[in-house]
Order: sequence, then C-alpha cells, then structure tokens
Amino acid sequence: MGRSRGSYYSALKRITKVANSAFSLRKICNSIAKSTAKAMQANGCRILSLNPQKEYLITVGTYGLSDLYLKKGHLDARKSLPDILEGKVVFIADAAKDERVQYPQIALAQGISSILGVPILGKGEAIGEIRIYTREPRQFSEADKSFLLSVADMCAVIFERAELHQLLEQDYKASERRRKSSQVSPLPTTTLRPSSFAHPSEEDFAKLLDFYCIEWLYEPRSFPLRWEGDKIAEMFTPDFYLPELDLYVELTTLKQNLLTEKNRKLRQLRELYPEVNVMLLNKNDFLKLLAKYGYGPLGEAKVEGIDRVLYSHAKIQRRIRTLARRISRDYAGQRLMLIGILKGVVCFMADLMQHLSIPVTLDFMAISYYGGDGQVVKITRDLDSSITGQHVLMVEDIVDTGMTLNYILSHLSAHNPASLRVCTLLDKRARRLINVPLDYVGFEVPDEFVVGYGLDYKGEYRNLPFIGILHPELFKGEGPR
Ligand code: IMP
Repeated sequence: MGRSRGSYYSALKRITKVANSAFSLRKICNSIAKSTAKAMQANGCRILSLNPQKEYLITVGTYGLSDLYLKKGHLDARKSLPDILEGKVVFIADAAKDERVQYPQIALAQGISSILGVPILGKGEAIGEIRIYTREPRQFSEADKSFLLSVADMCAVIFERAELHQLLEQDYKASERRRKSSQVSPLPTTTLRPSSFAHPSEEDFAKLLDFYCIEWLYEPRSFPLRWEGDKIAEMFTPDFYLPELDLYVELTTLKQNLLTEKNRKLRQLRELYPEVNVMLLNKNDFLKLLAKYGYGPLGEAKVEGIDRVLYSHAKIQRRIRTLARRISRDYAGQRLMLIGILKGVVCFMADLMQHLSIPVTLDFMAISYYGGDGQVVKITRDLDSSITGQHVLMVEDIVDTGMTLNYILSHLSAHNPASLRVCTLLDKRARRLINVPLDYVGFEVPDEFVVGYGLDYKGEYRNLPFIGILHPELFKGEGPR
C-alpha cells in the first residue's frame, strides 16, 4: 500500500495540533513519534535531542520500539549515524550490516532492517534528529523524506519553545530571589530620558538607538557587587538598558589601559548575576559604529586600499553552492520569494538564485540610513508584490549589529508571510546588539570592515569580485549602502 499525500497531510495536521498543546515536551514528542510512524507505515520512530556539548543524543519521544532497543545505551553523536548531525538525510538499507549503526547486533535481534534519519535544525545547526525504523527492508521516496523533514522542522520549534520556557522560568526565579533579598533596585517602567548625559558619546548612542526605534533607559539600575556586613560597599550602574533586547550596554571612552577596573566590575557583575545580559562598547567599537554612518571623528577621511583578501571569488562561489543546496532541500516542493535590501546584496543575490533548484520570485527593498538628524529609519523603496501567505527568504549581505535586519523582519512579519527566514552571506557576530535569528550563514567574519562583492565603503569597492579587509590604518569608517 502506498503512502499518500493525504495521509501525510492529516498527520501534519495532527502533529501541529499536538505541538501547540499544553502537554509536556515528552508527551508531545511521543505523540509526534506515533503519528509519524503511522503515517509512514513504519514500525518505530524516535525523536532525539542533542545535548548542549554535542556529545550524545537523548531520546525525547518514541513509538513502537522495545525497551531493550531504547535502553541500549547513550547514542554517541560521533558514532551513531553521524552524518545526520552534519545536516544530511541518512538512509540505511540494512541496519545489521551497516557500520554507521552504533549497535548493529541489537538492531538485528530486534528485527530492524531499514532506517531513515533526518536532522532537526535550529538556527541552521543540528539540535537533534528523527529516525524511522522498519522491519521489512524498505526504500523511501522523496515524499517520505520531505514529510519527515517537515516533522523535523516542527520539532525544532517545539525544542526551542521548551528551551525558552526553561530560560524564562530560571530568569523569573533569579529575579524573585533578588527581589526578596532586595539587593537590586527595581527597574523603572517608564523610559528614563535624562535632561543631560554624563558624556557626549552617550547622547550619540541614544540618538542612534532612537533612529532604529529601539527603546532605551538611561542608567536605570544599580547592581551591588560587594557587601560589608549588611551594607553595600560597591555597585555598578551600566549606562543603558535596552528592554526589548533585555541588554545592558556600558559605553566607555577610557583608554585601553584604564579599562582593567571596568572589566573587573563587568566580570563580577556577570558572575553574580548570570541572567543579566551586559555588553561593553569601548571607544573604538563605538567610533566604528558611528563611522559606519559617516559620523564621528573617523567618518570623514579617505580610504586608500585593501589590506588583504578574506574570501576569494572561488571560495565565495563554493559556499554559495552549499547554501543553495540546503535552501533548495528545505523548500523542496514550495515556491520561494527572495527579498534583498539594496544595494549591498546584489552580487550575493544574483549568484545565490542561479543555484537554487526550486521556483523563486524576487523583490527588493531599500531603507534610509542613519543621519544623526533626529529622523527615524524608514523604508525608501518598498516591495512591488505582496508577501502575505508566501514563503519568504530575506537575503542579506552582512549582519553586523543586527539593527537593520531586526527592523526589516518586524516590518515583513506584520504582513503575515507563510514563513520568514534569513540567509546572510556574512555574519559579523562579534558586534551583534540584537540577536536576530539567522537560518543560513555563509561565513562568520571577524570584527573588521570588509568590502567587495557588493559591499561598499562610501559607495566604492562594490565591484571587487572578492571580499577584502580595508587596511586597518586606513580604515576610516563605512558609508551608506
Ligand atoms: P547592522 O544594522 O549593523 O546589522 O548593519 C548592516 C548593514 O551595515 C549591512 O547591510 C551593510 O550595509 C553595513 N555593514 C556592516 N558591516 C559592514 C562591513 O564590514 N562592510 C560594509 N558594510 C557593512
């Protein structure tokens, strides 16, 4: 009997419903394993989660497998079908004879013949997997694989939700502890806008946040760091708190050698309040950030040249082909709308789309750049077509602080696309202020100013076929897209 699209559709409906229920993680995963095995007419199914150190796999949901099979020991992430965790779909025709199976004798004793395994991907990385087991030797069709990959996507959402729930609970418990011992002043609920800032750089930073409509509070909270008896002997008050990002930012214009004391305090704060997210922006980081918008002392001068090539044209092309394969696989059977932000993305978009094997449509947007004139960010060129109900992939050249992407994503999600993911060629993670979800990443770049392959410095260098780093001594900031 064949496995019909109809049975896969009804199974996905059941799975979505249970995923959205208030049951425990284990109960939800057991129910998904059952619906999946039944829809695929398989004898067993197992949902596994990878431990945070990525060493072994833990069973979180199962159906149709005997206790002996389940208790056979930890599944070593490097020994048990390791390719799945590399992001691949793995098919084992004969489990008893295949060396990729960690316990082949037990598979034989249990009468398991074929296995199909797919990764559960969260933010582009394997966080677990689903395996299907059959007693009869079996071949799996493309429709079987695509169904299992959809179930895996659903599991990724469930895992992430469970993790978030746990984090919120920890956070709540920690803040309750602190509130009870009344060690930290409560956070004010209204925006704190000072009549004057302690330092001009703080005012500049506040203006930059205002441009991106990011809410901020100025020095809203003091953290006790040391006590003498019952008395607080030392406190630390970060300059800003960004409530939407739950992030404290401390700006410092001190010289590097005077930073030791501040670093010590920050280290202590992180130890005493591990749930508090705090970031230090030093003078250089901050000037670079301003210079990116053509502001500050670094913004004016002229750039002389490239220091070195970071990614050659060939290397970029190889990476793009890999990304395109993953995207084509993830969206198999669907139509995809690619959206790019002008102008930095042009080279990447042009190459990426040529390697996609699914039907795609294309649209572009443009947004205003920070000008320090009190204006807020706005869309200067909107999309030509509607994204409602469409699968949308945002294609970006580089994600730096994440402020641009965060703004665009909230704009796009308000139009109710069927799905919304992000593909960026470069990820400058070291400078991230907003933790935007990145689904496909080409390269993680160092904290340097890069140009070429669409990326510019003051409008130039976009035409270079490679990505290069501007000479550090000559680096004087970035210009608008
Ligand atoms: P974000 O809002 O800070 O993430 O900035 C993203 C935008 O800043 C990118 O789309 C680029 O236009 C620009 N950008 C950030 N870093 C670089 C770089 O190293 N070279 C060129 N442009 C950059």
